Amino acid sequence: MNILILGSGGRESAFAWKVAQSAHCEKLFIAPGNAGTTQYGTNVNIKVTDFEGIKALVLKEDINLVLVGPEEPLVKGVHDFFLADEQLKNIPVVGPQQEGAQLEGSKDFSKQFMERHNIPTAAYRTFTKDTLQDGLTYLATAGLPVVLKADGLAAGKGVLICLTLEEAQTELTAMLADAKFGEASSRVVVEQFLTGIELSVFVMTDGNSYKILPEAKDYKRIGEGDTGLNTGGMGSISPVPFADAAYMKKVEERVIIPTIEGLKKDGIPYKGFIFIGLMNSNGEPWVIEYNCRMGDPETESVMRRIDSDFVDLLLGVAEGNLNEKEIIISPKTAATVVMVAGGYPGEYLKNKVITGTENVRDSIVFHAGTAMDGNDVITTGGRVLAITTVQDNMFSALQQATADASRIYYDGMYFRKDIGFDLL
Ligand code: AMP
Ligand code: GLY
Repeated sequence: MNILILGSGGRESAFAWKVAQSAHCEKLFIAPGNAGTTQYGTNVNIKVTDFEGIKALVLKEDINLVLVGPEEPLVKGVHDFFLADEQLKNIPVVGPQQEGAQLEGSKDFSKQFMERHNIPTAAYRTFTKDTLQDGLTYLATAGLPVVLKADGLAAGKGVLICLTLEEAQTELTAMLADAKFGEASSRVVVEQFLTGIELSVFVMTDGNSYKILPEAKDYKRIGEGDTGLNTGGMGSISPVPFADAAYMKKVEERVIIPTIEGLKKDGIPYKGFIFIGLMNSNGEPWVIEYNCRMGDPETESVMRRIDSDFVDLLLGVAEGNLNEKEIIISPKTAATVVMVAGGYPGEYLKNKVITGTENVRDSIVFHAGTAMDGNDVITTGGRVLAITTVQDNMFSALQQATADASRIYYDGMYFRKDIGFDLL
């Protein structure tokens, strides 16, 4: 069969690497892809939100399955677009329809969903411009720190952790009255701050049954020791030692099953991934957020621990027989180190020539923000490459991924050398 992957980051590179190995896959297309995805398939320069362009490609290349990487096309309704189109309606899309994508597209929707289905999450209240005064009063009674979340998608920037009441009141006003994050902050969720260690749990569902994929831990801050500004993610590790069988049983019973059952009770169709961002507080899982897609850079580590045919699982999602499929997970450890552009996550350097990838010894170099410039591979994004290694134990995986990252060079390159070391 012919498969199309939508997206262009490290996550989509890892998907493409895995899908290309499947016995089901004849031709693979990636739209728009990056300089690395051409190793696995054909790049087509179409934006993930250009639904008409995607339609033309799907018909021209006789695509039989579409795997959606990022949240934006899902929240904008790419799956609904397929279902509403006579020529596309029978071509399966892996990724939820707009309603299910609200789990990520609206923080207020996801908090209400969790409340309705008794899924453990931080206490919260939602405010709009009209209820700003109530919000300011509420903040005065809420404990500190307090978390403010723009309701809509804000490119990963819409969450603020405020340490003082003054800061919280100023930010709430900026978000609601001055549209700090545009339309995304026309509603704001004010939430209790949770302490603990974060964990990313990934579930694949056909709307009835589900499979739990390998869990991962993601490192979000730019600086070593988890300091400095937030980024899209500087590295990941899988498995995560504290997420042992007893812990994952709690997650499954208290979060995963009520989530799948909740979607069914609410009549929300859902075929795709659910990424559950958890806070582990003294051994108890609390949901921080849902995403309607896989994580990046978690997917790079997760794909390397799935030993079964990934397309077979995708077909289970598409055809509604996921319960008949088997997922084989490697007991080994996968580590991913993300190499970023100089200046990232602020203004960053671009169009720098990347050298040395041929010297990498025992990792896969997944491309993210790269493009071809003649015969050169150049940097185009903040997150440039994701270096992923699998080894028998965590220490060697971390060491190898870091060593391999240091064999690559471009002007201004930076990566964290401490990914996963807090877990050793
Ligand atoms: P979100 O976009 O909801 O994932 O939030 C971004 C990041 O903010 C999370 O990955 C956490 O590090 C942090 N965060 C969000 N909500 C909370 C909370 N209630 N308590 C503590 N940290 C939080
Ligand atoms: N790594 C976090 C995310 O993909 O949102």
